[in-house]
Amino acid sequence: MAGLDSLRQEFRRLFGAEPRAFRAPGRVNLIGGHTDYNEGWVLPLAIDRDCLVLATARSDRRLRVHSREFGETIEAGLDGPAAGEHHWSRYVFGVAWALGGIGVPVAGADLLVASDVPHGGGLSSSAALEVSTAFALSGLASVSPDRAKIARACQRAENGFVGMRCGIMDQLASCFGRRDHALLIDCRTLDVRPVPLDSSRVRVVVANTMARHALAGSAYNRRREECEEAVRRIAAVRPGIRALRDASWEKIASLAQDWPESIRHRARHVTLEIARVHAAAKALESGDYEALGTLMLESHRSLHEDYEVSSAELNLMVELARELPGALGARMTGGGFGGSTVNLVRAEAVDDFTASLAHLYESRTGIVPQITACRPGDGAGEIV
Ligand code: GLA
Repeated sequence: MAGLDSLRQEFRRLFGAEPRAFRAPGRVNLIGGHTDYNEGWVLPLAIDRDCLVLATARSDRRLRVHSREFGETIEAGLDGPAAGEHHWSRYVFGVAWALGGIGVPVAGADLLVASDVPHGGGLSSSAALEVSTAFALSGLASVSPDRAKIARACQRAENGFVGMRCGIMDQLASCFGRRDHALLIDCRTLDVRPVPLDSSRVRVVVANTMARHALAGSAYNRRREECEEAVRRIAAVRPGIRALRDASWEKIASLAQDWPESIRHRARHVTLEIARVHAAAKALESGDYEALGTLMLESHRSLHEDYEVSSAELNLMVELARELPGALGARMTGGGFGGSTVNLVRAEAVDDFTASLAHLYESRTGIVPQITACRPGDGAGEIV
């Protein structure tokens, strides 16, 4: 990440004022793939990579936003049209809009955005941008809404302004991250329980395949619809079922026999994955990292076979990783169709693991991956 001093300098040059600085991290998810929008549980951690937003207030109901990565400035009225459909600035304007819904008075701002969470890497660069923007705009308005409310507003921004029907995991992880802890999150009640991860024994390694497939957003939204279809079918015989979280595979397997195969497989993945999250949280709590690793491998298989959100590159990265010394588990993380895998690796093996995996993946694909060990970090806040 570019040094804060150089960013402050850039802000002064662009906007001629002394800014406040805010940060929000990306995340990886140890387990609980596509369970969040089914109101289930997830087990992510905030990573030590951030989106920074430097900010000063304006009073003319306009936002002027410069992105360091994209080398672009976008200026518009708060209610005015932001740039094209998936443009980075839509996340920023979306958050300004959604904060109104939780009582944060946004009067306008000049913002400089710089992030070292890679785009399209499955590490939630978008949630990091949303949450850092939300903290900046709330900070300028001198209000501090609770973190769960901020996370909800950011999710609303992405659902309503960007058109991606994401769940709430990424935004919650970015808000509630805790150094050296993973977070067991109940995505219905938004209860967040930090669970320690002993970095003297195991490390979390993120392996970016550098491959991202088109139409990931529309395929993601289709998975949500398929889950809703499964819920409608269950609720028709068992009223009171609101989400797949309320069902167990044991109880619905026979019911699902007559369903279209894709709906049956989606429901099987989600219900069994939720059970795996509980088992994984127990394993983590008791320091049984072998058991956690095995659950991660099962999760990947299910995401590939039943949920069909993996890719050739993700599968290869997992297959190569699991054979290496010190590897305990590996799975794709994030929405899928490309992006990164998350690996659980014995601490003493981490350097060799990282170098070997990079070498093997490159020799098989010709693509140079980005593979780094990361440390669970703290959630968003102002940098003072
Ligand atoms: C993306 C979404 C999350 C979650 C994951 C899959 O990261 O933003 O809400 O659904 O995919 O677990």
